[in-house]
Amino acid sequence: MNWQNEYKSKLVSADEAVKHIKSGNKVVFGHAVGEPVALIDAVVRNADAYEHVEIFHMVAMGKSEYCKPEYEKNFWHNTIFLGGTTRQAIAEGRGDYTPLFFYEYPDYFRTRVRPDVALFQLSPPNEHGYCSFGVSVDYTKPAAECSKIKIAQINKFMPYTYGDSFIHISDLDYIVEHDAPLIDLHPMVLSEVEKAIGKNVASLARDGDCLQLGIGAIPDAVLAGLSDKNDLGLHTEMFSDGAVDLLQKGVINNRKKNFHPGRSVASFLMGTRKLYEYVNNNPTVEMCPVDYVNDPRIACQNDNLISVNACVQVDLMGQVVSDSIGYRQISGTGGQVDFVRAANMSKGGRSIIAMPSVTKGISKIVPLIDEGAAVTTSRNDVNYVVTEYGIAELKGKTLRERARALIAIAHPDFRTGLISVFEKRFHCTF
Ligand code: COA
Repeated sequence: MNWQNEYKSKLVSADEAVKHIKSGNKVVFGHAVGEPVALIDAVVRNADAYEHVEIFHMVAMGKSEYCKPEYEKNFWHNTIFLGGTTRQAIAEGRGDYTPLFFYEYPDYFRTRVRPDVALFQLSPPNEHGYCSFGVSVDYTKPAAECSKIKIAQINKFMPYTYGDSFIHISDLDYIVEHDAPLIDLHPMVLSEVEKAIGKNVASLARDGDCLQLGIGAIPDAVLAGLSDKNDLGLHTEMFSDGAVDLLQKGVINNRKKNFHPGRSVASFLMGTRKLYEYVNNNPTVEMCPVDYVNDPRIACQNDNLISVNACVQVDLMGQVVSDSIGYRQISGTGGQVDFVRAANMSKGGRSIIAMPSVTKGISKIVPLIDEGAAVTTSRNDVNYVVTEYGIAELKGKTLRERARALIAIAHPDFRTGLISVFEKRFHCTF
């Protein structure tokens, strides 16, 4: 059968497709803006047909209705990253958090979960019958590949991206056609504090650096601060509209990259139509699974790799908390440690943790991390910590030197208190 006929033979409605999920199954959802919305809606619509279906879903950008209390007998949520629509379910015991480095996630599916069903979104096929995972290759492609049943929502709005991002129609079990624009994630309006952090981080960057940037206001502020640099490269877990601005201005041109030269390498993308149009059919963008992009042994092969990630709290030893507030899990490790380690191992690399010095009147630089909080980036891994007040370089520094450097970039309102803790702890004057 040629692939066109195979395509037709696999076409079903979303409600028919999700009948192949059985009670007790392990089901993986594609995530972020690549979430297969039509399929997830059908799963929730048919909730009465299932009991105890375990759902693996990372960055949840949609409604996540399967997390609602009324479905607690039908679905259980297992994730390595919590978001606004899933936090409550985890806090209330309708799911749980699995601590993992993001680069380990594909192998977790291959060797431990062995999913029964994968639901994911793809671009329409090209003339050879290959569809692209588009904006979300990350764990989605490897988990789909190792699932017993593969169900794809094919959406004409999903960009056709290159890299290790393809699957052939013959490898799919069921196809649901559903066209809908991808979820838009708009850039944030930057505050003066975020702009100052961006400037401080940018002062650590050099022409020719290769960038990894997380998501949110701080990465956006850093990108805004880099517009006077030259010949930057991208090897990053994800990127958004801010990077497109620099690519279009030629500030990021990937010319000096020694690894994948001339190419922007990423694992998933989140932004607006501007981003999705930029990456569509663009051979300079390589989208690859996260066990390639984020594996520190791979990413560190980029010389001058500079990683920038945000956090919740840093203690005076330099222990970084990024995914919990006390006992409350708020997000996940994501790719933070993958890239801190990659940047530390990269020739000429620098890893940066950047954060506002305070949140809601509370200092983020603290004598001790909150009870119940988990260390995300260890004191052995941390290198630079940046706030709006400056830069603390911690690598190779003693405990006293670290504490002094961190207090110097804390909010002025909290420095006296931190100095008094320092003097008691280290039996010396500040
Ligand atoms: N004490 C109490 N509350 C705190 C806090 C602290 N020390 N630090 C942050 N918060 C609160 C904020 O006030 C905010 O509350 P709100 O939602 O009620 O407004 C909330 O926690 C989120 O903080 P904010 O600074 O707005 O978060 P963000 O959207 O910039 O995300 C991280 C910051 C650290 C949560 C996020 O970057 C993350 O999850 N990082 C880990 C994974 C990672 O680095 N991935 C990158 C690779 S792509």
